[in-house]
Amino acid sequence: MKALTFHGKQIIKYESVPDPKIEHPKDVIVKVLLAAICGSDLHIYHERETGLDYGTVMGHEFVGEIVEIGSEAKSFQIGDIVSCPFTTNCGECFFCRIGLTARCTKGQLFGWVEDGRGLHGGQAEYVRIPLADLTLLRLPKVVSLEEGLLLGDIFSTGYFCAEMADIHPNGTYAIVGCGPVGLLAIFGARDFGAEKIYAIDSVPERLTLAEKFGAVPLNYQNENPIEIIHKFTDGRGADAVLEVVGNKNAGRLAFDLVRPGGIISTVGVHTEKEMAFSPVEAYNKNITYKIGRCPARFYMEKLLPIVQSKKYDLAAIISHRLPLAEGVRGYEIFDKKLENCIKVVLEP
Ligand SMILES: NC(=O)c1ccc[n+]([C@@H]2O[C@H](COP(=O)([O-])OP(=O)(O)OC[C@H]3O[C@@H](n4cnc5c(N)ncnc54)[C@H](O)[C@@H]3O)[C@@H](O)[C@H]2O)c1
Ligand SMILES: [Zn+2]
Ligand SMILES: [Zn+2]
Repeated sequence: MKALTFHGKQIIKYESVPDPKIEHPKDVIVKVLLAAICGSDLHIYHERETGLDYGTVMGHEFVGEIVEIGSEAKSFQIGDIVSCPFTTNCGECFFCRIGLTARCTKGQLFGWVEDGRGLHGGQAEYVRIPLADLTLLRLPKVVSLEEGLLLGDIFSTGYFCAEMADIHPNGTYAIVGCGPVGLLAIFGARDFGAEKIYAIDSVPERLTLAEKFGAVPLNYQNENPIEIIHKFTDGRGADAVLEVVGNKNAGRLAFDLVRPGGIISTVGVHTEKEMAFSPVEAYNKNITYKIGRCPARFYMEKLLPIVQSKKYDLAAIISHRLPLAEGVRGYEIFDKKLENCIKVVLEP
């Protein structure tokens, strides 16, 4: 089959790789119908995260059709359309039972093979899904492939970020970063009743969409979000800041924006060695800092009714739809934010 594979810093290849096979009786094979490129793929692409074997099939965001079923996988039939969280889940361990599926003791991340061990990803024609019964979610017909794709990671992640921020209707909230995840976090914040949401980035078309989604856009290159948000809150700062970038500048901005006693909710993947603020700075502001990988499988089920309700136009963030064969260009467009790119989806 054809797939997008990793071969070092900024080197993605579209090449032939062996078809995935059932390796364990609980596996299924999914024919990928749509895949996406995520901000997390860019950490690998730029080798901010290292360890991935060369030749690993990239990607952890995909939806598809079941084409082969292991003898102990009982929940699905050939032809079912399924969405997949970005990690596998056993559904039985302590963490799966408390809804922290991101920390499943048998969890594996799609698109991460290190020292020959791990899982290939979904930017390919086919992908092997271990522990399929409790990992995959069958999509009802009313849910589009695009919605199913966004449910598997970034809508779930944006919503999770909003939930950690303990949002109340009268509060003032700031979202740092209006990439695909930050934009969908606006919908999450609105769903918890937030009325005053500032959305911060420097990319005009992302800010335009943030405004359309219901936030007040702030371009940190032209205006000072710290001054503006403090002015609006009688000098206090935001009740919570949702940090959806994953670099030190954004981490620092989140700290400077949050009010004493407030919450910083971070889903950005931080690859630096140090925090953006010191323990004593955190102490002096009495902040709560929440961070981590989204328990996507748990949120997919929880958010399915919201997706089915069509309350939010999730797919509005998809700016590019390319054949998988043009995925190498897709990475470049997404990384460099060319052609007003917000989110790239790939069709095998
Ligand atoms: N926790 C999880 O489970 C999870 C899941 C998905 C993605 N992520 C992470 O979320 C982050 C965002 O993902 P994405 O797909 O939206 O990526 P993206 O790279 O498209 O978006 C990041 C956005 O942040 C903006 N930005 C950069 N520096 C900024 C700053 N100092 N202040 C404000 N904005 C700034 C960029 O212009 C861009 O629009 C990434 O770190 C990704 O790895 C985490
Ligand atoms: Zn992702
Ligand atoms: Zn588990």
